[in-house]
Amino acid sequence: MLELNVILDLPMTRIISVSSGKGGVGKTTVTSNLGSALIDFGFDALVLDANITNANLGFHLGIPLYPTTLHDVLKDEAHLTEATYIHNSGLRVIPGSLSIDDLKDTSPSNIADVVMDIVGDPEIILIDSAAGLGNEATKTIEASDETIIVTTPDLPSVTDALKTANVAEKAGTHILGIVLNKHSGGKHELSPEEVEDMIEHPVLAVIPQNKLVPRSISEKTPIIDFRPEHHISERFRSLAADIAGIDYEPKKQSIFSKIREMFG
Ligand SMILES: Nc1ncnc2c1ncn2[C@@H]1O[C@H](COP(=O)(O)OP(=O)(O)O)[C@@H](O)[C@H]1O
Ligand SMILES: [Mg+2]
Repeated sequence: MLELNVILDLPMTRIISVSSGKGGVGKTTVTSNLGSALIDFGFDALVLDANITNANLGFHLGIPLYPTTLHDVLKDEAHLTEATYIHNSGLRVIPGSLSIDDLKDTSPSNIADVVMDIVGDPEIILIDSAAGLGNEATKTIEASDETIIVTTPDLPSVTDALKTANVAEKAGTHILGIVLNKHSGGKHELSPEEVEDMIEHPVLAVIPQNKLVPRSISEKTPIIDFRPEHHISERFRSLAADIAGIDYEPKKQSIFSKIREMFG
């Protein structure tokens, strides 16, 4: 994809998929927060829901109901611009359909074509992927130049993440690193170092397990907008800065905000 970009002389767009082996590890949470953080840093970012069978990125961003979706584009029944929505933050969103009927005649094979149509417009496209090694997930990885692998700190999730890393390597997609999500520091958990040793890629961010994350989703707002001062928001901003290659000094948490957090 990168090479085609150069041949066609399009402005450079980074295409980054957010992938995992296991479901429910936090891909959509990472996509929405990363997208929102990139917007705050002044980047023109777009998020695309490529989880065709279980689209839910729109829920995380407070736009659950929309007349036209990626599914219509994949079926050639709508133009991309009709399926692109702008979140309050300025983040552009291409959601998927929630309807089972829309799964008919929708093939993930065309994801790369859709992505090619967007290339040259935003600076960064983040693709929220389906979990696993099925067609949906692999087509998304193949359509990306770079990928972020999300895992939780347990052996089944990390083992599956390793398989996803292998798929990305075979596809020639550059693995930026791992986001270790729902970390609680328990003795039963794998440490970030153990995860790095197993997957052989760096852990870019450790995101703690915290009930504010599901709360922010129920408020249909990424946590970085819902609780900008929270240390989880700082971790997402640091991750975004790292990926965008900019310097960012996370704010020190005040004693008052630490106490507030202790009391939920
Ligand atoms: N850091 C976290 N702490 C607590 N709950 C989380 C965290 N990250 C995600 N979750 C919860 O886990 C569930 C799955 O998250 P989601 O982002 O939808 O995962 P995926 O896209 O990988 O299926 C959601 O209910 C979400 O609220
Ligand atoms: Mg998801």
